[in-house]
Amino acid sequence: MTQPGFRFSGVGSVLPDKVVTNDDLAKTMDTSDEWIRERTGIGERRLGGTTSGLAADAARLAMERANVGPDDIDQLLLATTTPDYMLPGTAPAVAEILGLDCGAIDIQAACSGWVYGLVMANGFLLQGEKRILVVGAETLERMTDYTDRGTGILFGNGAGAAVVEPGPGEILGWDLGADGKYVKILWAEHGENMSMDGKEVFRQAVTAIQRSANAALDRAGLTTDDIDFVIPHQANIRIVEAAWKRLGFTMEQTGMRLEETGNTSAASIPLTLDKVLDEGRISDGDTVMLIGFGAGMTWATTIMRWSGDDRAAA
Ligand code: ACO
Repeated sequence: MTQPGFRFSGVGSVLPDKVVTNDDLAKTMDTSDEWIRERTGIGERRLGGTTSGLAADAARLAMERANVGPDDIDQLLLATTTPDYMLPGTAPAVAEILGLDCGAIDIQAACSGWVYGLVMANGFLLQGEKRILVVGAETLERMTDYTDRGTGILFGNGAGAAVVEPGPGEILGWDLGADGKYVKILWAEHGENMSMDGKEVFRQAVTAIQRSANAALDRAGLTTDDIDFVIPHQANIRIVEAAWKRLGFTMEQTGMRLEETGNTSAASIPLTLDKVLDEGRISDGDTVMLIGFGAGMTWATTIMRWSGDDRAAA
């Protein structure tokens, strides 16, 4: 089968208006701005909105930048851990808001979901489809106990989206994985808030990043030296630093938005990608790695020869 290529024709992201700073949290739990910044790298998070509403707003921005309308979208893939309802999925509601007439499904792979979505989108392009809308959207507020200092300091809401299409770029290598032995280190029962063994999640996250990055590099026939830019899932700056020490990446070649957003699960990588594109830190032809990891455990990495979103239509 001919490789059709992979181009990001438009990327967009949104955060809800309500800002909750670390100092705000310290009013209701035994913590401090200094502790949270030092142990996580998080300065504030955003609350409010619905998953479908945030998803649609981010998707609209991505579609505007891609200069496409609802009729141009062939599939909607929505990565979310926090659907609006237990039934049905949230993707059909997002498609309705946007006026899409196409397939629309949710991907539940926790913080890895958006990168899983990119690999699935590549599969659709290989089957001849022309434009796939891949969205990551979360309202983690809905399953976070903001009086629990173990989890309440970490999570926030937000959404990011991309329209992808055939083009001069390419997915050079990828890796998707899961290990269900670790379900009960980060999980939520129906109707309840998240429970987490923070130390074990930290350990497994560092291992998963390393393993997945290396598997994708092997598949691409590349080494870490070939990678120009990396965007990891934004969970904890210390997780990234620990993994980078093992892999040999630097923070200078790393996209981060954690300080402003907290952990937004499936939304964190497209939220960060949007910021990085605003800053002009990725150019056509760069070799870019995206690494997701999260509850499940799940992990997902793509390595791309970058093409797209020059912000022309913004
Ligand atoms: N504020 C102040 N003190 C705190 C807080 C807090 N919010 N939380 C814990 N402490 C205290 C503890 O009580 C403990 O005190 P002690 O030494 O007197 O007993 C001390 O700080 C150290 O506690 P630890 O639990 O060892 O803190 P740690 O450095 O492990 O940090 C944290 C906790 C931030 C949750 C960390 O384990 C972590 O980030 N884990 C990964 C979690 C994660 O990223 N989850 C994301 C979801 S999944 C994903 O995206 C991969």
